[in-house]
Amino acid sequence: MCGIIGYTGTRSVLPILLEGLSTLEYRGYDSAGVAVHQNGLQTVKSKGRLALLEEKLQARAHLEAATCGIGHTRWATHGEPSDQNSHPHGTDRLALVHNGIIENYLEIAAFLVEQGYTFSSQTDTESAAKLLDYHYAKSGDPQEAIFKTLAMLRGSYALGICFADYPERIYAVRKDNPLIVAKTPTGALIASDVPAVLAHTNTYWRPEEGVLAVLEKDAVRFFKSSGEEVSQKQECVDWNVAQAQKGGFPHFMLKEIHEEPTAISQTASAYMKDGLPHFNLELLDTDRLKEFRAIHIVACGTAMHAGLIGKSVIEQLCRVPVSVEIASEFRYRDPILHEQDLVILLSQSGETADTLAALRHAKANGVHTLAIVNVIGSTVAREADSVLYTLAGPEIAVASTKAYSVQCTLLYLLALRLGLVNGKLSAQTVREICEKLRVQVPAAVEEVLKSCDKVRAAAEKVVDAEHMFYIGRGVDCALCTEASLKLKEISYIHSEAYAAGELKHGTISLVVDGTPVVALSTVSSVAEKMLSGIREVASRGAKILCVTTKQISEQYDLPADIHLVLPEIDELLAPFPAICVMQLLAYYVSALKGLDVDKPRNLAKSVTVE
Ligand code: AGP
Ligand code: GLU
Repeated sequence: MCGIIGYTGTRSVLPILLEGLSTLEYRGYDSAGVAVHQNGLQTVKSKGRLALLEEKLQARAHLEAATCGIGHTRWATHGEPSDQNSHPHGTDRLALVHNGIIENYLEIAAFLVEQGYTFSSQTDTESAAKLLDYHYAKSGDPQEAIFKTLAMLRGSYALGICFADYPERIYAVRKDNPLIVAKTPTGALIASDVPAVLAHTNTYWRPEEGVLAVLEKDAVRFFKSSGEEVSQKQECVDWNVAQAQKGGFPHFMLKEIHEEPTAISQTASAYMKDGLPHFNLELLDTDRLKEFRAIHIVACGTAMHAGLIGKSVIEQLCRVPVSVEIASEFRYRDPILHEQDLVILLSQSGETADTLAALRHAKANGVHTLAIVNVIGSTVAREADSVLYTLAGPEIAVASTKAYSVQCTLLYLLALRLGLVNGKLSAQTVREICEKLRVQVPAAVEEVLKSCDKVRAAAEKVVDAEHMFYIGRGVDCALCTEASLKLKEISYIHSEAYAAGELKHGTISLVVDGTPVVALSTVSSVAEKMLSGIREVASRGAKILCVTTKQISEQYDLPADIHLVLPEIDELLAPFPAICVMQLLAYYVSALKGLDVDKPRNLAKSVTVE
């Protein structure tokens, strides 16, 4: 959500800012802007896509000589997307870009109005920018002014700042929002995320909260609010720019779905030793795991849906109670937590504000927190008591796909480990399932991908639908919630996921002639019950798309208009190929409709505000 970029050095800054912002587009945005040093600070901003900003910049050719500046893609939280509300904000003395929310902005604005300041936007950010101007006008010292400003701000921020008096310098600082700093051969950069610096370097710092980064072309220095200079740990990624791009696929989403077999096998292999789950964590590799009374999985969106799969498999294999909670609810509803509980936070980005707040709430209640996160060094990963990384690589499409599959992979491994320590599973059984997870699952997902034309053909049959239903029982019901979210977010078709047995308690009144119903059936113990549910909607004229295991397809005569059969796989592991089919279905519907698959309207990849 929102992208920050900044560069100071010997190269022309505008191409670097624009390229960086375009790499950060995946985070979601509604407007963009830059401020560069060229005879004072020059600010250009525009509502809408980056192309509109580029057009405006073409009329300002003299800015090409600038070598220091900051840029921003905004995802509005306070004030509509508009030219005025776009960042940077500031005065003749300074320009500032911000990711996050200043909660006490009205208080600050009232104070500044008394001091004679006026405001030209509806944003919370402008209050922070003008407060900084107020302190800077008094002291003339950027560093002192920044820390005085931070001391008065409540909320979350990553800030990039330029002062007109210091034409070769950028200041940056963060609290509860992501920001990285990097040194390149020609200068120094700030950015919201790693892909934006990969064209220049693969090493970077993620400044600690409240530590101010001061960037000049030859040096990057870090300071605490006391004025003391501090060093920060440098990090390194082995992703290259190509990996962070589409790699020949028309959309990131399709590329990322195709990366699932590798992501699953990498994640599974990384957490196995001698054929058994092994995490390199005292918490998980010892008997301590069996001391937990209950598990709470807390997350948002797709990650929360992966939690539902985790609940199903942990309860089935280990008989330990698991609750799955939406992080935004968990943080405020005062959940009943016991010191013998384990809270698992699931997050692709590791920066989701609600998940982070839930983590802090659990910690404050003295409960052990385990984060399962994809982005290394992200805030959730850093703050949790223990962390396991899913090895999915960068996920760029707003619709999360491979991250879900690897979250499920890790939850399966966790369930197997727990089953082993609490005596519900034998080492032999665990070893067999582990081997299937490592080999059979990626192979089955690969097979789905090879026959993706069949899913595309199915998508053609439902592309014109206005409403759809997804039905299933047991773990299939959990899978349906994710399948339905995927379809909704990228195809804009309204859909609902329902427990197949629940439909007749009201919702079936919405099923009319031709309403597509996707029926997922992978659980043999309830396959017959599913069949009744399918018949109920079929007899109301529904267009039935069945997705079933081979075994169920052979055993039952399903009244399906379209029937997709999953590759042969152990029933326990069927969710992996099943979700891949569902993700492809949503993808093809969106692509066939000609929609912006990777950047659906109103959505952001990383939701770093409440
Ligand atoms: C996924 O398709 C969604 N766009 C969204 O629900 C996402 O899963 C959610 O915002 C959580 O993000 P996280 O995994 O980065 O915490
Ligand atoms: N709260 C700020 C605004 O609405 C920043 C939003 C963002 O992170 O892009 O302008």
